[in-house]
Amino acid sequence: MNVDTTPVAGLDADFEKTAYHIKTSDGPILDIKDLCLWYSETQALFNIDMSIERGMVTALIGPSGCGKSTLLRSVNRMNDLVDGLKITGRIKLHGDDIYDRSADVIALRKRMGMVFQKPNPFPMSIFENVIYPLKVDGVRDKAILEETCERALKSAALWNEAKDRLNENALGLSGGQQQRLCIARAIAADPEVLLMDEPCSALDPIATAKIEDLINELAGRYSIVIVTHNMQQAARVSDNTAFMYLGRLIEYGDTETIFQTPVSPKTQDYVTGRFG
Ligand SMILES: Nc1ncnc2c1ncn2[C@@H]1O[C@H](COP(=O)(O)OP(=O)(O)O)[C@@H](O)[C@H]1O
Ligand SMILES: [Mg+2]
Repeated sequence: MNVDTTPVAGLDADFEKTAYHIKTSDGPILDIKDLCLWYSETQALFNIDMSIERGMVTALIGPSGCGKSTLLRSVNRMNDLVDGLKITGRIKLHGDDIYDRSADVIALRKRMGMVFQKPNPFPMSIFENVIYPLKVDGVRDKAILEETCERALKSAALWNEAKDRLNENALGLSGGQQQRLCIARAIAADPEVLLMDEPCSALDPIATAKIEDLINELAGRYSIVIVTHNMQQAARVSDNTAFMYLGRLIEYGDTETIFQTPVSPKTQDYVTGRFG
């Protein structure tokens, strides 16, 4: 592993002159280059350079308002509908420029499942929730739908709890079950990347532990990017961690290094709980 200490172009904050990156050899699933984002006049992301490794769990950490959700939403173009939004720079998904004018946004989003803070099952049966992405695609073959439902629920560690109540309303599930259902729904679409924005923040510790176990199981099959404000969680589930502060990527590398021997004093202060 080698630490590249060349300054990131355009990093203009007084508090940090350098962002530190740890280079890795595998080709990235997501390649973010010089990404800047403005909400109207207010700049929220500054020159983000970040390569996200395939099959790994990457955690985005940093204090509230530092731009974690903004970055995640930029990756699957969920920010597109925000009024006054301006983005410069580039994001590639496995080599495809997602902000290219000819990019098919719907097709791109299918390659990236998204899981939110609050579980958001649709008010329909468990079965209908899981197979929703296939229905949207026009799949009607009952055998395919049933097979996909079972596979996705098994992958999301919900099959045993749900198999006898597939036709019941998903809103009757507990919060933790609902979140695993949302993960199953994301998996049913067969994505390459799972984007998770604080997926455990509305859950109790037991439900949280189940989601964390699930993330560990899904790693490898999917590339997972998880936003969390819980540093223990980042340390438990992720291979790599990115620390963001005031819209900037301050430090990015393997999780152990970020938590134990970070290069940047700002990272050190954050991971040791001196601010947050
Ligand atoms: N839709 C929006 N319109 C205007 N400003 C926004 C919007 N979403 C987020 N912001 C601002 O962008 C900054 C980063 O927010 P966010 O990405 O939500 O941070 P985090 O997820 O790290 O808490 C904050 O200052 C926030 O107020
Ligand atoms: Mg957020």
